[in-house]
Amino acid sequence: MINQDVIIENTKQFVKSTLMSAEGGHDWFHVERVLKTAVYIAKKEKASLFTVKLGALLHDIADSKFHEGNEEIGPLIAEKFLKSQNISQSDLEHVINIIKYVSFKNSFDNTVFESIELEIIKDADRLDAIGAIGIARCFNYGGFKNRLIYDPDISIVSHKNKTSYKNSTAPSFNHFYEKLLLLKDLMHTKTAKDLAEERHEFMIKYIKQFKKEWHLES
Ligand code: NI
Repeated sequence: MINQDVIIENTKQFVKSTLMSAEGGHDWFHVERVLKTAVYIAKKEKASLFTVKLGALLHDIADSKFHEGNEEIGPLIAEKFLKSQNISQSDLEHVINIIKYVSFKNSFDNTVFESIELEIIKDADRLDAIGAIGIARCFNYGGFKNRLIYDPDISIVSHKNKTSYKNSTAPSFNHFYEKLLLLKDLMHTKTAKDLAEERHEFMIKYIKQFKKEWHLES
């Protein structure tokens, strides 16, 4: 194995063991799906496979929503790990920036860092948040936070900033309108836009059926 393959393998083991008891929507299997999708997009978009793989693997190593909102801890853990590996300083900095800027809530900020590899990982992460898997993850996270599935009296809020989005305690179903249905138009790469279409349509159908059953409409 060449050096890069060894580093990827070590990273996989590190992430697997770190995320051993993670919430079901942000566990190793989520990371594995994001990795697979990110590699697929990266090949089509001719991006750096090495940084895409590392970024995808480490992107949820310590998500702030599971660490009292602490946004420093993820990049710090990733940096500490990467420094133990034989990786160039420029790759290290690139991967740390990817981890800092990948999350949806940071899309409310004016991002100061951009790269095709970051865009690809954002796309892959967002693709896992929509479609059939996105629906499963949405309700799993809501259950984890003990939120309601739905309450017709709680209206949809359009979050204008990060604090409002982060502090939301709305029912899981509202999350479709507040985030998931918006993601299709926030994809960066052509490959991700194509993949998002079918998943988006599926969510629309699901929402229709959900409401039909809730209100017993024929
Ligand atoms: Ni993620």
